Amino acid sequence: MSRTMSTRQQLLTYLKEGKGTWVSGESLADKMAVSRSAIWKHIRHLKEDGYVIDSSRRKGYLLRQSSALLLADEIKEGLHTSVFGRRGIVYFKETDSTNTRAKFMASDGAPEGTVVIAEEQTQGKGRRGRRWFSPPGEGIYASIILRPSISPHEAPRLTLLASVAVAEAILAMTSLQVNIKWPNDILINGRKVAGILTEISTEMDRIDYVIIGVGVNVNTPYASLPPDIKDIATSIVMETGKPFPRIALLRAYLEWLEMYYETFRTKGFEPVLNRWKILADIIGRRISVDLIDRVRTGEVLDIDKDGFLILREQDGTLERIISGDVTLLHK
Ligand code: BTN
Repeated sequence: MSRTMSTRQQLLTYLKEGKGTWVSGESLADKMAVSRSAIWKHIRHLKEDGYVIDSSRRKGYLLRQSSALLLADEIKEGLHTSVFGRRGIVYFKETDSTNTRAKFMASDGAPEGTVVIAEEQTQGKGRRGRRWFSPPGEGIYASIILRPSISPHEAPRLTLLASVAVAEAILAMTSLQVNIKWPNDILINGRKVAGILTEISTEMDRIDYVIIGVGVNVNTPYASLPPDIKDIATSIVMETGKPFPRIALLRAYLEWLEMYYETFRTKGFEPVLNRWKILADIIGRRISVDLIDRVRTGEVLDIDKDGFLILREQDGTLERIISGDVTLLHK
């Protein structure tokens, strides 16, 4: 297996070095000390993985286009992180839910920074037991395993941290107006483009692992959005009118996530929360928040140091809320 992987990676490197010119099968076979038919077999697998490669009996092989799939090798190339995505990227063409897969791997001892990615999820999970629309090839569905030395009640901070990382990645790569809606919806022009689902496993009063799953609608056309989210969801392609490189966005997200996680570990939560507050623009706004069993209305006084929302209700009572569905109200 590892030999197959490394031969394949080597082959890709040689094809990429060719920079749009033909590379002969013979020279590849020589350099890699394998038969020409082995080369041909690997080329076939690369094509199945979405690489566009021309083959000619006389001239050899020419890489026309890299794969647009979220393959581990493509993500790692040019990824500027030291831990996230460096200790393993597990890729599925299709899976039930990357969060579910990541949980199994974390229980089996997978290290911090392991990333699980799927091209398609058959049971993508959203917050509050909802489904997350996860069609093949159009979005990013990724989960990362973290093992922070914090107590369980501090875990909501990581959700806010991840929402900042998603927002930063989109902001850095587009000129779109990106906002965070508490606690962790990423909005463009008031519509949801990405969401985060954090799941934690605790032992006594310490965290065993945290799974942060992010779903981003990247190249989803309006027509393919399910009717129930057509009015509230958006995608990057819908906002910019241009297909968007998923791989580059995923890399940027991992880089921002690692950067903020490092800030959190070394300097505490405050710098992250301050950035979150700027991106969220919710303090001082009138909102109603649906808490499953009741709805509360009032003014947002603050987001406290644990990531809870502090709401002042009409009668002046203060409510500290950990999670809910927020609707902004006009004054
Ligand atoms: C939300 O409801 O806003 C959260 C959506 C989170 C979706 C992502 S997609 C990758 C990961 N795997 C899942 O099953 N869910 C999260």
